[in-house]
Amino acid sequence: MANECANFGADLHLELRGPRLRAGLMDALREAVRTGRLEAGTRLPSSRTLAADLGMARNTVADAYAELVAEGWLTARQGSGTVVARRAEPRTAVRPPPVSSPVLSPTRPAAPAHNLRAGTPDLASFPRAEWLKAYRRALTDAPNEAFGYGDSRGRIELRTALADYLARARGVHARPERIVICAGFVHGLLLMGQVLRNRGVRNVAVESYGLGLHAGLLTGAGLGIPVLPFDERGTRVEELSDPGEYGEGEALVSAGAVLMTAAHQFPLGGALPPDRRAAVVDWARASGGFVLEDDYDGEFRYDRQPVGALQGLDPERVVYLGTASKSLAPGLRLAWMVLPESLAGEVAATKGAVDWTSSAPDQLAFAEFLRSGAYDRHVRAMRLRYRRRRDQLVAAVAAHSPDTRVSGIAAGLHAVLALPPGTEQAVLRSAAWHGLAVQGVNQFRRPTVPPTLDGLVVGYATPPDSAWNSALQSLCRVLP
Ligand SMILES: Cc1ncc(COP(=O)(O)O)c(C=O)c1O
Repeated sequence: MANECANFGADLHLELRGPRLRAGLMDALREAVRTGRLEAGTRLPSSRTLAADLGMARNTVADAYAELVAEGWLTARQGSGTVVARRAEPRTAVRPPPVSSPVLSPTRPAAPAHNLRAGTPDLASFPRAEWLKAYRRALTDAPNEAFGYGDSRGRIELRTALADYLARARGVHARPERIVICAGFVHGLLLMGQVLRNRGVRNVAVESYGLGLHAGLLTGAGLGIPVLPFDERGTRVEELSDPGEYGEGEALVSAGAVLMTAAHQFPLGGALPPDRRAAVVDWARASGGFVLEDDYDGEFRYDRQPVGALQGLDPERVVYLGTASKSLAPGLRLAWMVLPESLAGEVAATKGAVDWTSSAPDQLAFAEFLRSGAYDRHVRAMRLRYRRRRDQLVAAVAAHSPDTRVSGIAAGLHAVLALPPGTEQAVLRSAAWHGLAVQGVNQFRRPTVPPTLDGLVVGYATPPDSAWNSALQSLCRVLP
């Protein structure tokens, strides 16, 4: 009866809900701590007293206290009873890690102490002095018209500098008139989604694993997103023309474009093998479709010659999309598209119809940064830095968890750590518990793809130097 309706503890103002007494009491205590109603250091009534107040068995209260001590909400000291744990600020409830997971610290931080999520470069290494120099020079030299409305494709100075750089560093066939500057890859993809839909395209195929944000931009444009299956060699692009057992049949065959991270699959990390690179371009030629190449971290290749852009195979069928978000900083919102001739005008017009984006002075500064060689120097320095981090990550995992396979490490700013089947969620809970922000591969799996992999996607670029070693230790602690 008492457990069916609200029930109040005399001094603690605990509101118990739900049929399970112990769980209800634990939830109520967590809530009271989280909201600050029970402050750090507050002494709780003895289990006998609280049990009497709430009309519960004493053991039920004692068990709840013990679990909350193990979770870090409370501390129990001989002689001074049970008190609310000391901590900096209220924390959110996180389910405790499984019993078999490593030893817990008595308190855990509210915000993650370490960020090993993939996606952000080392922001502390933004080349402020060099950028400022380029900006000063660009502003000094800028013609007055640069401060007015301009070409929706972006500043010609930047498009010219990019055409040069992309040909040299990524093997992209680029002419300035085919380049459109946009505010991030997401902006480019949004524009492409609109243009393709306007052309009557119904479906854009996507890889089995990728960012939900990107898929959402395509569906938001009214496009279907059939999913290409995946095997040990990567994305099965051949299914675009001949879907097998696991493909999405009709929708794949009728896809008007395919979105691919060919040089470094995100997040699994492989490079599309040469025969499949050729096959996807052949499909585009034969079907009149387009490959949307997301070359998000093409500059960061460590172990062998850079894998050139797919676009070099057929600039009329591949839309190349690059970004400064990994190589410099996402806060710049600077990215670029290199377009086939048949699309360049439409994309520029679509962009011009609604916005002009990326500030012209920023574009001029970036052009100067490229022209002066500062970009090459920065990328080279960051490549060394990230490579060192990657090596340290691999060494730490090998030392602490020799059975954990690390893959996707030839390029980019993240690695994939394979986990035993069925353990990903528990490891993620344990990571959250230890104040470690990290993602599982299944967070990137398209909803229709059967779960076959368990693993962590570990971004190693973000932590500042001062926190890198402890971030690694924290990671090792949660590995099986
Ligand atoms: C797969 C992938 N593509 C592209 C981007 C870059 O996006 P944007 O240029 O919009 O910052 C990212 C950034 O995290 C990414 O992970």
